[in-house]
Amino acid sequence: MGKKITIAIDGFSSCGKSTFAKKIAERLGYLYIDSGAMYRAVTLEFLNWEAFRNNTPDTRMTQQILSGLQVGFSFNEQKKTYETTLNGKVVEDAIRSPRISELVSAVSAIPEVREKMVELQRLMGKDKGVVMDGRDIGTVVFPDAELKIFMTADPAIRAERRYKELQSKGVQASLEEVLNNILERDKLDQTRAISPLRKAEDAIELDNSYMTIDEQMEWAEKLIAARIC
Ligand code: DC
Repeated sequence: MGKKITIAIDGFSSCGKSTFAKKIAERLGYLYIDSGAMYRAVTLEFLNWEAFRNNTPDTRMTQQILSGLQVGFSFNEQKKTYETTLNGKVVEDAIRSPRISELVSAVSAIPEVREKMVELQRLMGKDKGVVMDGRDIGTVVFPDAELKIFMTADPAIRAERRYKELQSKGVQASLEEVLNNILERDKLDQTRAISPLRKAEDAIELDNSYMTIDEQMEWAEKLIAARIC
């Protein structure tokens, strides 16, 4: 076993970042952290606040919501997977709903939200041996990560993958709605003022439009080997 490193995986929505990142973490025995799930959990909490549903949150409201908020992950022994928790409660399914997907880009653009999540993410990764996926991991959260990967894929292919995933979970949405949501999120994520989605200068790009997960792993294997030896 070589030295422990930090692996940052960023990219567009529904590129298969989580599947890829999880697989790398499994292979290396590293901790996997889905930073998007954390922003989704915060969005779920915002929705619990009547005032948020009717207004754009101001700084005071945001601070109030964030002050008692606890976002984390707990291991599900039966499913052998980590699940997202909000204030101690598992919210893994609730945070994947189309309603949350619609609102999460706006919530994740709030400066106080980002500040709190980045602080938490750095704490979770402080001992290295972590694979974290998101939008700003290589640029902001871990700018010194030993391996940075930036994932892209054709939007139509991403929409199809996401559509199938939602269908398998019984979530109602048309392919057109899914594609529009993806395009809208791409735009919001790339144009927001703080920590917009962009490729870090030292990140290596992976376009997985026509790659299987095994092919992606094979591609990653060489990059990892060169860094942990
Ligand atoms: O990866 P995902 O689609 O579950 O992420 C949900 C949203 O969270 C995404 O639209 C942008 C935001 N996000 C972010 O701003 N920064 C991150 N590091 C991860 C996600």
